[in-house]
Amino acid sequence: MSPSLLSVAGVTKRFGGLVAVDDVSLEVAPGEIVGLIGPNGAGKTTLFNMMAGAFPPDRGDIVFDGHSLRGRSAATICRLGLVRTFQIPQPFGSMTVLETIQTAALLHDRSIAASRAAALAIARRVGLEGREASPTPSLTNAQKKRLEVARALGANPKLILLDEVMAGLNAAEVARMLILVQQLRRDGVTVVLVEHNMEAVLRVSDRLVVLETGRKIADGPPRSVVEDPAVIRAYLGEGTEEDAA
Ligand SMILES: Nc1ncnc2c1ncn2[C@@H]1O[C@H](COP(=O)(O)OP(=O)(O)OP(=O)(O)O)[C@@H](O)[C@H]1O
Ligand SMILES: [Mg+2]
Repeated sequence: MSPSLLSVAGVTKRFGGLVAVDDVSLEVAPGEIVGLIGPNGAGKTTLFNMMAGAFPPDRGDIVFDGHSLRGRSAATICRLGLVRTFQIPQPFGSMTVLETIQTAALLHDRSIAASRAAALAIARRVGLEGREASPTPSLTNAQKKRLEVARALGANPKLILLDEVMAGLNAAEVARMLILVQQLRRDGVTVVLVEHNMEAVLRVSDRLVVLETGRKIADGPPRSVVEDPAVIRAYLGEGTEEDAA
């Protein structure tokens, strides 16, 4: 077994009386694409928030690339190479596409010229060439999703956490995003993606991890996970179609 790039061990997070993430453990190997799925409110984004250092777990530990993330800020975790996108794209005010990506690149590259060159290359890589000078509010939803990925790439990640980057995209845009995700892996970036678009997540994932009301209920090869009776039960009665693009 290859050593894990990310190791989540017995992680729990409560919000008042609600246990949003309940004793979850999982491993991510270098080079993997892992799909993290589950019904609305299952705890997927909360788990991402803890991995990315938005807030610490109440219990358990997360180890990334040999470093315990305990007590580390989001900025430090980002510098270690673990970077997330936001479920709701969060463009920085009226900055342009290039400025947004360059701001992330400046985290590890103090030179303005080098960070600008890196940002230009990333804009091309995610398919935003020609839009470098556009103010971010003028982008389409699909372009904003690609900018989220670009901003994450600006930080030069080893592991990227993608939170619903296909939500609201049409079929052609989803296909484009899937190509980008596969390209990330070829570039040596490990990927964990939260996604409600089941067809898309099945197409791209090496492995699926399923959460339901905070607990991990399945972890394994995609085809066997989707046939798991516990997983089918978790999704029955859930309005997941609304998210299918
Ligand atoms: N900051 C918070 N304060 C209080 N409750 C929260 C907070 N963040 C999440 N929750 C609750 O924790 C549970 C898990 O939420 P989370 O956003 O992690 O789910 P999710 O799996 O990402 O869902 P979705 O698919 O709808 O994005 C939900 O019941 C949610 O209402
Ligand atoms: Mg979420």
